[in-house]
Amino acid sequence: MRVPFLGLVLAISLTFVKGDNQTHEISGSQRSFEIDYKGNGFLKDGKKFQYVSGSIHYFRSTEEQWEDLLRKCRLAGLNTITTYVAWNLHQEASEEKFSYDGNLNLFKFIEIAQKNDLLVILRPGPYIDSERDMGGLPAWLLWEKPDMKLRTSDLEYVYFVSRWFDELLPKLEPYLYENGGPIIMVQVENEYGSYACDKEYTGFLRDLIRFHLGEDVVLFSTDGAADGMVKCGSLPGVYPTVDFGAESPAGINSSFSVQRKYAASGPLINSEFYPGWIDHWQKPHSKVGTDAVANALDAMLAIGGNVNIYIFHGGTSFGFSNGANIDGGMYDPNPTSYDFDAPLSEAGDPTAKYFGIKKAIAKHIPVPEENPSVSPKGAYGKVNLKRLTGLFLPEFLMLFGGIRTHSALPKSFEELQVSYGFVLYQVKVDFIPSDPAVLTATKLKDRAYIYVDNEFQGILSRQESIFSIPIIARNGQTISLLVENQGRVCYGSEINESKGPGTNVTLGSKVLRNWEIFPIGSIDGKKLTKYSIGLKSNLINNYESPLTEIRNRGSGSFFVGNFTVPASNSSVLDTFVRLDGFTKGMVWINGFNLGRYWPVVGPQETLYLPAPLLKPHPETNTFLIFELERAPDSCLASIALLTGQNKGDCFITLTDTHVLDIPTPFKSGMSLFKKH
Ligand SMILES: *[C@@H]1O[C@H](CO)[C@@H](O)[C@H](O)[C@H]1NC(C)=O
Ligand SMILES: *[C@@H]1O[C@H](CO)[C@@H](O)[C@H](O)[C@H]1NC(C)=O
Ligand SMILES: *[C@@H]1O[C@H](CO)[C@@H](O)[C@H](O)[C@H]1NC(C)=O
Ligand SMILES: *[C@@H]1O[C@H](CO)[C@@H](O)[C@H](O)[C@H]1NC(C)=O
Ligand SMILES: *[C@@H]1O[C@H](CO)[C@@H](O)[C@H](O)[C@H]1NC(C)=O
Ligand SMILES: *[C@@H]1O[C@H](CO)[C@@H](O)[C@H](O)[C@H]1NC(C)=O
Repeated sequence: MRVPFLGLVLAISLTFVKGDNQTHEISGSQRSFEIDYKGNGFLKDGKKFQYVSGSIHYFRSTEEQWEDLLRKCRLAGLNTITTYVAWNLHQEASEEKFSYDGNLNLFKFIEIAQKNDLLVILRPGPYIDSERDMGGLPAWLLWEKPDMKLRTSDLEYVYFVSRWFDELLPKLEPYLYENGGPIIMVQVENEYGSYACDKEYTGFLRDLIRFHLGEDVVLFSTDGAADGMVKCGSLPGVYPTVDFGAESPAGINSSFSVQRKYAASGPLINSEFYPGWIDHWQKPHSKVGTDAVANALDAMLAIGGNVNIYIFHGGTSFGFSNGANIDGGMYDPNPTSYDFDAPLSEAGDPTAKYFGIKKAIAKHIPVPEENPSVSPKGAYGKVNLKRLTGLFLPEFLMLFGGIRTHSALPKSFEELQVSYGFVLYQVKVDFIPSDPAVLTATKLKDRAYIYVDNEFQGILSRQESIFSIPIIARNGQTISLLVENQGRVCYGSEINESKGPGTNVTLGSKVLRNWEIFPIGSIDGKKLTKYSIGLKSNLINNYESPLTEIRNRGSGSFFVGNFTVPASNSSVLDTFVRLDGFTKGMVWINGFNLGRYWPVVGPQETLYLPAPLLKPHPETNTFLIFELERAPDSCLASIALLTGQNKGDCFITLTDTHVLDIPTPFKSGMSLFKKH
């Protein structure tokens, strides 16, 4: 922490604003992009310009896919793409270490966009929402200064934001339109008016961006099309815009009239026009009809509006990167797929909506003639698995459990400095409990798998408001809570929530004390893959009796399986992972965390596996599965032995069909209009 220097950092940022004249001299060209207040539009190189943009996030696909995806954006008739920047991926710890490698090479993404004749609208946040963990903010902010007020002018927070923007923005300067690049506009914060009204903070961001990117770049803000929101989200020197969907009850005109109240002249802009909507586990897959989308887009373009379709390609929230909403007070995590019912599917294929949108655009601006087609998918079939280890194997906990700590009461993930994944809390009962006794963790965030002497008892769930469970535990037995962070809240006042079981976990009326804590975190998939190769298969049997294996039915178990792309396939294809018989957990391919699966509740049943993550024939690909609840009986040697099942029957399947809308326990999802 270098907070004492903050004043200096701020003073520098706020005082010195780069002369715009300089930049013009360097480029010497006539490239310019500006707001045309008289013409209620934009001027690009002095000529009238209307943008039709689509949001696509570099961090929701692999770098090998960007060329294809961006080309498809252009072929749809878009002339611009919009991307967020996900701070929490670029700076994983508070140290000044930033990564832009591989799938995080945002600069390469921008270059490919330009190569494909697309302009770029940049939304660097720092808060982005986007159904990302903590709305894209790094979780370490929560422990650098636990009382930090996120997204405000609180100096503790602003200090870290300036360090990040001081690092990022100079790297983006060469990509500005006036400097020969594709970036025409930069957004300040994101839907700020629905969070707070601290204009000192948004003013600071504006000045910091101006300091690094100069006076010429067009800055804008985006807010829900409601007076109160735009009022708090707009600020001088930053052009105000609104966002709303195809079926917005307010209608296009009245939504734009909210914008007009704050921008008497200048372009009409819908910065997030929703062609689909967000999904949540356990609730139906969101769908928005093509006609409603195409008609609304047509109508907005007809009145000279500028539109960013959010989202044009949703892609995947890999690993632990998904966020969660609070819907009517209830915690509601987002699934791995960010398909969004978008014009380009999660796997990057054009849908009927893609062509409907292209037709609507073609009425207003010239579109390329060429149409993309759906790419073939690999139905590679079964991948056999074997059980690698259970969570409680001492060797596993030694290698993957993190630095074990002792504490009288449970510590939160943040106190343990764990951003994502899991923490295992263990406590020995040192009294005589009643039989049964109720185990309670009223402050649990988000989900706890309960074990007594390593035998699975059941689940506590914040989503279901289930915070207690009757168990049979004896004096001297060990109670374990494997706590899962299901995704930090991405929108609203609870983005700073802390994860863990809460300090008071009780058995009967007694608070449990003297915990042993394993901060497992996100689990290093590459290390685990290596470990799986070296592991002696009889290791599990040395600590776990067949009876325990039978009772646990695979909860807290790791499975491993090899897969080689068939020789007959000349190129590796995208595929989808089916996990029939598995319940809830994570999948890694070659050490890369594909994300969470939970096919028993849907709406997402299969996981998208992009071809670039697979090695071609004859190389070996290794899958790892971490099952939290229950695996197929055929995957458990002891049960297979009892029932005479063939051990070869433990498998996952690689199919050519993505299934994102299976029936769910709850009948309705979050309304498209609740959030915005
Ligand atoms: C830019 O040039 C104009 C006139 O050419 C001048 O009035 C203005 O002061 C200059 N701005 C800076 C920051 O040098
Ligand atoms: C919306 O505005 C446009 C242009 O301002 C106008 O032609 C149209 O009639 C309006 N539509 C509605 C439903 O008010
Ligand atoms: C989150 O922030 C709000 C507003 O600053 C504050 O009232 C609340 O106590 C914070 N919550 C936590 C868990 O720190
Ligand atoms: C935890 O339990 C103790 C009593 O053992 C009580 O004093 C304290 O208020 C409880 N804390 C919470 C957060 O419930
Ligand atoms: C997977 O393949 C590797 C060699 O590439 C091998 O060492 C390992 O034992 C295989 N694992 C399984 C589960 O077959
Ligand atoms: C890939 O190989 C599989 C099995 O050999 C075959 O069924 C499939 O048609 C092939 N796909 C392509 C696109 O070559």
